[in-house]
Amino acid sequence: MSGELSPIDTAKFVAAKRAVQYVEDGMRVGLGTGSTAAWMVRCLGERVRSEGLKITGVPTSTRTAELARQVGIEVTTLDEAKWLDLTIDGTDEYDPDLCLIKGGGGAHLQEKIVATASDRMVVIADPTKGVDMLGAFPLPIEVIPFGLQATKGLVEELLAAMDVLDSKAVLREKGGVPFVTDEGNHIVDLHLKRIQDPRKLSMVLNQVPGVVENGLFIDICDAVVIGHGDGRVEVI
Ligand code: 5RP
Repeated sequence: MSGELSPIDTAKFVAAKRAVQYVEDGMRVGLGTGSTAAWMVRCLGERVRSEGLKITGVPTSTRTAELARQVGIEVTTLDEAKWLDLTIDGTDEYDPDLCLIKGGGGAHLQEKIVATASDRMVVIADPTKGVDMLGAFPLPIEVIPFGLQATKGLVEELLAAMDVLDSKAVLREKGGVPFVTDEGNHIVDLHLKRIQDPRKLSMVLNQVPGVVENGLFIDICDAVVIGHGDGRVEVI
């Protein structure tokens, strides 16, 4: 499956391959979104086909649902599954406390709901995602379309008052129009200074009416599987 891969794809592939070893017969598994998670879905599909592994997948986006079906994974909704044994997902950043910034792919709302409804969350990453302190990657917030500019303005004011806003809040676009999430909302990317207190920031952001959820994952991730370009894998 790996063929001739670039070092970065090798890193994602070996992390994904190791992480799917946590999956056991009969498990209900949350399936993350993004290029690293896509490797995981392919590796899991390979185990389903070659070993006859019986699992139920709960995808965190329409993209992942489509890929999971293509590779032979039976998918269902979180409401049907009720609770999950394990979620495996990618990340945009992880810190030494296993706090994350997610949402670069615009799916952090469903990802956070799914991961929170799981016994364990295992994150797969390449070494570029590891940071001492979160914040270099713009923090995504999912915002409902109604009153978008008012919400964005209020968020900017709050962040400036907390002295965490570095440059600005940017409405994410795709093809020249605002990006629309699977839930029909938009994403605003917050360009911040280093995030000294992710817990406080997460609580403040989620207090703003119009903000559905932010991309900070705190006390959710249990382990990070890091793949390297030379094929090595480490787990923290
Ligand atoms: C999607 C996510 C992704 O997990 C995150 O953006 C990492 O993606 P990739 O594996 O493509 O770097 O949070 O909302």
